[in-house]
Amino acid sequence: MRLKQALQGVLTEKEVQSFVGSYDVVGDIAIIIVPESLRAKERIIAEVLLAANKNIKVVAKRAGNYGGEFRTIPLTILAGEKRKETEVKEFGIRLRLNPETVYYSVRSGHERRRIASLVQEGEEVLVLFSGVAPYPLVISRFSRALTIAGIEKNPEAHRYALENLRKNKQLDNIELYRGDAGDVLAAQAGRCFDRVIMPLPRMAAAFLPWAVKVLKPQGWLHFYDLQPKESFELSIGKILDACRDQMRVVDSAVITRCGHCAPRIFRICIDARVS
Ligand SMILES: C[S@@+](CC[C@H](N)C(=O)[O-])C[C@H]1O[C@@H](n2cnc3c(N)ncnc32)[C@H](O)[C@@H]1O
Repeated sequence: MRLKQALQGVLTEKEVQSFVGSYDVVGDIAIIIVPESLRAKERIIAEVLLAANKNIKVVAKRAGNYGGEFRTIPLTILAGEKRKETEVKEFGIRLRLNPETVYYSVRSGHERRRIASLVQEGEEVLVLFSGVAPYPLVISRFSRALTIAGIEKNPEAHRYALENLRKNKQLDNIELYRGDAGDVLAAQAGRCFDRVIMPLPRMAAAFLPWAVKVLKPQGWLHFYDLQPKESFELSIGKILDACRDQMRVVDSAVITRCGHCAPRIFRICIDARVS
């Protein structure tokens, strides 16, 4: 509300409406999306945002889109301190990260908490694509899992993940591996898990053969995908195909919407139980 009021002297009513809600706060960094029509006013918007919220120390804008293998996004600082590293608190977990060099979405916090609430005592859990380790840490904090293994290819994300493990040192049932998910699993041939989490929408399907292979009978797969509403079933189809190839059976598959990335495209998670 304070931000809305503060922006009223700078932007038209319509511009205020379109701008408010179109930014994320990652730790003490506000990341804004500046539409072309507001380019000339971006610095003043950033200064207003900084002044309106004492918890924000840096205002940066998205200078491109999420891209590349590591799903990172270029940022340009518009106001405040000249740094891009910050610390985030997620359900009491401390996460250090640089939102330009690693992928991290504050908007997925509730989804990570939802998954943690499904984990049963004694489970061995695998998080493929573990980033700076938010899934492993939230699962460790809110479940009685025996072990949680995370695999991450981006060396910078893995470095932060190790630092975050040290920061949350009471959570000591996590193992982190750096490398390509397939390569790391190949090197641990024979190891199996009760639950495999695959938070790499759009590209996770290529790793389904691995996920199914390392999943114990009656295990759970959490497969993330991006789909328009009318095509959710296609994501279930990808799991069915991967299971059929390995003579495995999908007992149940439930779809959860956990965000959207474009006007009609949803981020979904399929929770599938596989025998
Ligand atoms: C959408 S992000 C999710 C990160 C983290 N789980 C989270 O919730 O913040 C996907 C992650 O997968 C990593 N990644 C991409 N390809 C990979 C691969 N072949 N093996 C392991 N990690 C990979 C990226 O670097 C990125 O950190």
